[in-house]
Amino acid sequence: MKTTKKLMTLIMVIAMLAMIFSGCGSSSEPAAEEPAADVPTYHCITEASFPPFDTTDEDGNIVGFDMDLMNAIAEDQGFKVDYTDMVFDSLIPSVESHQYDIITAGMNAEDPERQKHVSFSDTYYDSALMVVVKEDSTVTSVDDLTTDMIVASQVGTTGADMCNSLADEKKIKSATIIDAFSDCMLQLKNGDVQAVIIDKPVAQAYINKIEGFKMVGEPMNAEAYGFAVAKDNTELLEKINAGLKNMMENGTYDKLLEKWFN
Ligand code: ARG
Repeated sequence: MKTTKKLMTLIMVIAMLAMIFSGCGSSSEPAAEEPAADVPTYHCITEASFPPFDTTDEDGNIVGFDMDLMNAIAEDQGFKVDYTDMVFDSLIPSVESHQYDIITAGMNAEDPERQKHVSFSDTYYDSALMVVVKEDSTVTSVDDLTTDMIVASQVGTTGADMCNSLADEKKIKSATIIDAFSDCMLQLKNGDVQAVIIDKPVAQAYINKIEGFKMVGEPMNAEAYGFAVAKDNTELLEKINAGLKNMMENGTYDKLLEKWFN
């Protein structure tokens, strides 16, 4: 019996020594890597019928220049983003109410009414509104639009404001305001409307892809796109501006222009 007890004691001593020299439980081993502190995810919203800024790929993913630029800013500034598609005129209320965090939608930042509700980042793309008509139209500029013509644009946009102004001034028969830019162009193709007013880069991308349409006349305004956040979200706005500056300085911005506009 005594021998067994001695043997058990010896085995326990050997096991303890093995543990100590193997480093198990030793304080000399560096602590396991602490999981990285939670990286915040900010929820972005857009209206994805506005290529090449905001559109969807064949798998239904929301993609575009805006998304690539925001993704680059997020990586640079240490946060993550995801994207949700919704009608354009719900974008500002959704961020103003803090339901979502960032508008990434080719939105004109220089609109005083909008600036009352959200804060815009530094601008990242200069644009303007243009008139788009069918290839065989005799319209050569906004001045050729007549009181028997209906003009379409996308709800909530500067283009819609322009259409409504033309209707209010009795320069056109009426304005047709539609949720998606693609549907505006469908109504133009079908002859339901005689012109569409939309942002020049989006019109150009559409005309490059689909025959039968042309842009006419001079730019009708001047716009500059910005990302938008809730007015009290100054910390996020500063991150977006810092990241945007870095992307413009390190060549990423130019690479994205090349990717989406050539
Ligand atoms: N730039 C115009 C505006 O600010 C049109 C923007 C439309 N954007 C979109 N993702 N559908 O009103």
